[in-house]
Amino acid sequence: SSSSSSSSSSSSSGGGEIVLQENEMGFCSVDGSVDNNNSGFTGTGFANTDNDFYKGIDWSVVVQESGNYDVQWRFANGSSDNRRANVIVNGALQADVDFDDTISWSGWEISDPITVFLTAGYNEIRAEALTNGGLPNIDSMSLFGSGASPGNAMVAAHRQAAQALQAALALQAAPVLQAAPVLQAAQALQAAPVLQAAQALQAALALQAAQV
Ligand code: GCU
Ligand code: CA
Ligand code: CA
Repeated sequence: SSSSSSSSSSSSSGGGEIVLQENEMGFCSVDGSVDNNNSGFTGTGFANTDNDFYKGIDWSVVVQESGNYDVQWRFANGSSDNRRANVIVNGALQADVDFDDTISWSGWEISDPITVFLTAGYNEIRAEALTNGGLPNIDSMSLFGSGASPGNAMVAAHRQAAQALQAALALQAAPVLQAAPVLQAAQALQAAPVLQAAQALQAALALQAAQV
């Protein structure tokens, strides 16, 4: 039941659309990989989450004015299930979206628009799987409204690294076993393109050594 409609009755005034592609400005991360093995995508490929609950993709956008903005995704779903997802904005659940099957993994459709409230400045938008199939393959995300631009993924990476570091520091008085998940999180952040990840890892390692 997908449509290509882009009507935006509740969106902020004015036209304009920004299209966020994998590995470009505004694309932060995918719990999975960026692939190109199913044809019909735009850009250089599509984001393919691992197939499980809560796997997701993060984007960031900057808007000049607080208000409602419509969002749509171009996606392919060759499974026979609706891989519906939650839409989480700045850490808070705001909407959910259907990603019904598109017959094949090379059959791409545009999701029905959902509306999110964005605050003036930097915002993070996450689509997170509500089924054990993960998300469908996502070709791009479009945001409608005037005064919107793609965010800088480094900001999201810095924020996540800072949170990991804070968690490590908070564990200073805790037993060593509790440090293990923090260490894992810090190690996972090594792949992020950000110096702070290395600092978080160093802090976690130093913490572990101190507690052994
Ligand atoms: C297939 C397809 C992948 C897709 C996966 C899935 O393997 O090639 O691109 O992500 O199915 O079920 O999610
Ligand atoms: Ca997948
Ligand atoms: Ca793409």
